[in-house]
Parts: sequence; C-alpha cells; structure tokens
Amino acid sequence: MTTRTISFTLNGQVVAVQAPVAINLLTLLREYMGITSPKFGCAQGNCGACTVLLDGEPVNSCMVLAPTVEGRKVTTVEGVGTPEKPHPLQLAITEHYGAQCGFCTPGMIMSGVALLKKNSHPSRDEVVAAITGNVCRCTGYKKIVESVLAAAESMR
Ligand code: FES
Ligand code: FES
Repeated sequence: MTTRTISFTLNGQVVAVQAPVAINLLTLLREYMGITSPKFGCAQGNCGACTVLLDGEPVNSCMVLAPTVEGRKVTTVEGVGTPEKPHPLQLAITEHYGAQCGFCTPGMIMSGVALLKKNSHPSRDEVVAAITGNVCRCTGYKKIVESVLAAAESMR
C-alpha cells in the first residue's frame, strides 16, 4: 500500500500524518487522527454525516481524497467549540432540541457554521438550503432549522 505524508491545518494547528494515498478524508480524520465527529454514514456523498469544512466550505469528507487536503485548512466540530466554550450553534441545538440520536448533528453543525459565517441574517429558506445535503432520520428538520435561526440571532 502506497503511503505518503499529508500536511495540512486541522482545526487551526498544522499537522502531518503518514497515511495511504487512496483513502478519503473521512478515514484520514477518523482512523489516522482520532477525529471522530465526522460520521461514516453512506460513504457515497448522499447523507452529509461526514461534513467538514475545507478552506471554510462544507464538503462531504467521504468524497475528498485525503492527499488533496495537502496545505489546506480542515475544520471539524472539534475545532468549532468545546464543552466549556461551545459555539452558539451548539448551544442552540441543545436548547431547541435540534438533536435526537445525534448522528447527523456534527454534519449539521458544520453546514450551519459555514452558513452563519457568511450570512448573519439567514432566512428560514436559506437555512433549509444550507442543510439540504444533511440527512436527519430523527428530527424532521424543524428543530434543527429553528436552532440555526436562534444561533444567528444570538450571534448578532
Ligand atoms: S458518509 Fe459522506 S455523505 Fe454520507
Ligand atoms: S438526530 Fe438522529 S439522524 Fe439527526
């Protein structure tokens, strides 16, 4: 198996990891770096459970070949907030019951964070559009949308 060193910025820190060249970013993060917030759902780019930010844009990490992140910035939930200092969206999801089983939640958070960085006054339709690639089998989406809108309000 051919491996190489992949160097990139992960949650604000420059990292370098030796890994097979043919794995995806999701596997690199979960199995080689101990970053478990991105979830393994469909592995086909359909569910959004593996969403991370790549240079600030949400991507399905299962669809990104790991070596292509060389020199780029990757952000996961681990870089968004901590239990001591959660991101406003993490707080809002808790307060507005935006998570049930929680499997989709990290991906939802990353899509929501990307939206809120660009748009501090998103409409309901804009929130729906931002999370359109994130599948939730539990909540019916209403509570998630309300959480993003509440986070936007609290950040203004
Ligand atoms: S696991 Fe990546 S989109 Fe479903
Ligand atoms: S909270 Fe269970 S899949 Fe979304």
